[in-house]
Amino acid sequence: MAQSALFQPLRVGNLDLCNRIVIAPMCQYSAEDGCMTDWHLIHLGHLALSGAALLTIEATAVLPEGRITWADVGLWNDETEAAIGRTLDGIRRWSDIPIALQLAHAGRKASTEVPWDGGAQIAPGDTHGWRTVAPSAVPFADGDVAPVALDRDGLRRVRDAFAASAVRAARIGIDAVQLHGAHGYLIHQFLSPLSNRRDDEYGGSLENRMRFPLELFDAVRAAFPADRAVTMRVSGTDWVKGGWDIEQTIAFAERLEARGCAAIHVSSGGLHPAQQIPVGPSYQVPLARAVKSVVHIPVIAVGLISGFDQAEAIVATGDADMIALARAILFDPRWPWHAAAELGAQVRVPHQYLRSEPRRFKGLFTPARQPAMVEPVKKRRTANGGTLHRSDEKRA
Ligand SMILES: Cc1cc2nc3c(=O)[nH]c(=O)nc-3n(C[C@H](O)[C@H](O)[C@H](O)COP(=O)(O)O)c2cc1C
Repeated sequence: MAQSALFQPLRVGNLDLCNRIVIAPMCQYSAEDGCMTDWHLIHLGHLALSGAALLTIEATAVLPEGRITWADVGLWNDETEAAIGRTLDGIRRWSDIPIALQLAHAGRKASTEVPWDGGAQIAPGDTHGWRTVAPSAVPFADGDVAPVALDRDGLRRVRDAFAASAVRAARIGIDAVQLHGAHGYLIHQFLSPLSNRRDDEYGGSLENRMRFPLELFDAVRAAFPADRAVTMRVSGTDWVKGGWDIEQTIAFAERLEARGCAAIHVSSGGLHPAQQIPVGPSYQVPLARAVKSVVHIPVIAVGLISGFDQAEAIVATGDADMIALARAILFDPRWPWHAAAELGAQVRVPHQYLRSEPRRFKGLFTPARQPAMVEPVKKRRTANGGTLHRSDEKRA
C-alpha cells in the first residue's frame, strides 16, 4: 500500500507535527467565570489521547465581554490563566500532543445564551448579559441590542488584551496560538463590509478593513515567543452577496504570511443571518485550496470532513496541507486510530492502551511519549536496587 499522505509529518513554524490531523477548536460552554473546570480536563484529556497531531483549545476570550456566552473559557487574568494551566499540567503528564489555543473576541456576537438553551442574545442588564462592542453599531440579528462601536481607546484595549493573553498563553506552555478571525466574531466583523461601516482608517476599503485584524496579529506575534507559531482562522466567505469573499480572503492571507503567520485555517460563514451555505461533505475545501494556491505556509481545511479516504484525498491531492475535525472527533475520539488502520499507517498510542491493538492491524501502534511514564519507571526500583525491566513489566 502507498504511504498515507494523512500520516506524513509536517512542520508548522517550529512545531513538529506527527501527522496531518488537527483537532479543531470547540467551545464547551462549561467554564466558571472564564475558568476551565474539570470538564475541560476530561474533554481535552481524552482528545489528547486520540492520535491527532495537534489539539486546539476552544475559543478563549481575551476579555470578559469578548465571550460568546457567560460559560466560555477566558484568559484575561491570573485566575483564568491558572485554571488553563492546571488543565494543561494534567494533560501534559500523560500526553505529549502539541496544544494550540484559539484567542478570541466575539464582538457583537457576544452575550448569548449557551447553545443548548437556545443561543439567543442576552440583553445587557439581564442575568448573564452585557453590552457588546463591534467595529460599528450594527447588530447581528434584527431585534438584537446593537453593539457599541469601538472608539480609539476601545481598539487599544482590545489590542492590548490580545497581546496580554498571548503572554499568558506562552507562560503556561501553549505551543501555538490561533487568532479567531472566522465565524462572524470580532476580527471577521472588521473584515466584512456587512458589519464594518466605519468611516475612519479601519473601515471602507479592503486595506482599511484589514488594518485592525493585522494590528491584532502583529500585537500577538510580538507578544508570543518568536519560536512558537501564531496562526489565523478565517472565514473564506460570508456566503452573502456584497460580503467578505474568497478574493479578499486571499489578500488577507498574503498579508498575514508576510507578517509571519505560520498557518491559515480556512472555515467560512457565521457573519450574517442571510448566509446561504451549500453544506455538504468537504464544502469548504475549495476555499482552502484557493488560499493554498497563493501562500507558502500550511493551509488547514475543515468542515464536514469525516471519512478516512475523504481526508486522505484532501491532503494527497494538495487541496490542503492538513485537515481539522470537530464533530467527527467528538463522535469518535479514536478517529485517527481508525484512519491509520484503514490507511495502513501507524499511530501513537498511550502505553496503557497498547494491548488493544487488533490482531489484524499488527504494527498499527507505536508507543506515545508520556512524560509521566519516565519518573515512575525510575522510581520503580526493585528491592535489590535494580530497575524494573520491560520483561518484568509484562508480568506486572
Ligand atoms: C461543539 C462545537 C464547538 C465549536 N466551537 C468553536 C470554537 O470555539 N472556535 C471555532 O473557531 N470554531 C468552533 N466550532 C466550529 C468547528 O471548529 C468546525 O469549524 C465546524 O464544526 C466544522 O467542522 P466539522 O464539520 O468537522 O464539525 C465549534 C463546533 C462545534 C461542533
